[in-house]
Amino acid sequence: MSEPEVRIRDLRVVYGDGRSGVDALGPLDLDVMRGQFVSVVGPSGCGKSTLARVLVGLAEPSAGSVVLAANERGSAMPSAIVFQDHAIFPWKTVLQNIAFGLTVSGVDHAQANARARSWVHRMGLTGFEDSYPSALSGGMQQRVGVARALAVEPDVLVMDEPFGSLDALLRDVLIEELLGLHQDLRCTVVFITHSLEEALVLSDRVVVLSARPGRILADRAVPFPRPRTLEVRDDPDFGSLRQDLWHLLRSQVDVGRSADERAAG
Ligand SMILES: Nc1ncnc2c1ncn2[C@@H]1O[C@H](COP(=O)(O)OP(=O)(O)O)[C@@H](O)[C@H]1O
Ligand SMILES: [Mg+2]
Repeated sequence: MSEPEVRIRDLRVVYGDGRSGVDALGPLDLDVMRGQFVSVVGPSGCGKSTLARVLVGLAEPSAGSVVLAANERGSAMPSAIVFQDHAIFPWKTVLQNIAFGLTVSGVDHAQANARARSWVHRMGLTGFEDSYPSALSGGMQQRVGVARALAVEPDVLVMDEPFGSLDALLRDVLIEELLGLHQDLRCTVVFITHSLEEALVLSDRVVVLSARPGRILADRAVPFPRPRTLEVRDDPDFGSLRQDLWHLLRSQVDVGRSADERAAG
């Protein structure tokens, strides 16, 4: 068995300190193997975004450890993240946004632009290279976000509810695109979502977190073969897996609510 690409041990994140500290996440143990696509689902506020931020180094563990094998290999770009709200720079053009991470990591200007252009084509943004994000639809903006993250060829791609603000039809289109990208690139993906359907269509595994502080309640293998399309939703096992996960999630929404009611006095 090879080394996991992501190894999380006894991870806890607490915001603030002392009596006023918010226990946001953990303790949590999770291994993700290289090339695996893992979704993390859980009730609102359970610490999913916190986990995403720790994975890419935007937040620190309060206890425990997060080890990316890519760091130990000395990889140029161990991880990159795609956020829900695009988080692309409004003052940069599409091409400049996609080239940004490359330039920052020291790739020279001409090469960064060439690589960014190939992602422009790949993500169906041809003709919009010099447009600013405000001139793009939500779906196109999110394609820019995905392209920017993938252009740096990260070993681990972290996506925090990337399609959460898109309408259902557009979300389906982007899900199919992501299936194709993962099929081609075989990168390791940690995909945060509140949609069980997204999780089941895309993933090799679905991890369910409890109400805050998020701990692992279930870790289910998703057995559908690849390459996959959205038609996997019609598989009878899809419905039963979704049902199983839905019951787990549902129980946590109630836990969260009664905790909030107690806190409210
Ligand atoms: N910077 C912060 N300071 C204090 N509390 C925070 C901060 N970020 C998140 N939290 C709290 O930590 C908990 C987990 O947040 P988050 O990771 O955003 O959850 P999720 O993404 O699952 O909705 C929530 O209760 C949230 O209010
Ligand atoms: Mg979140």
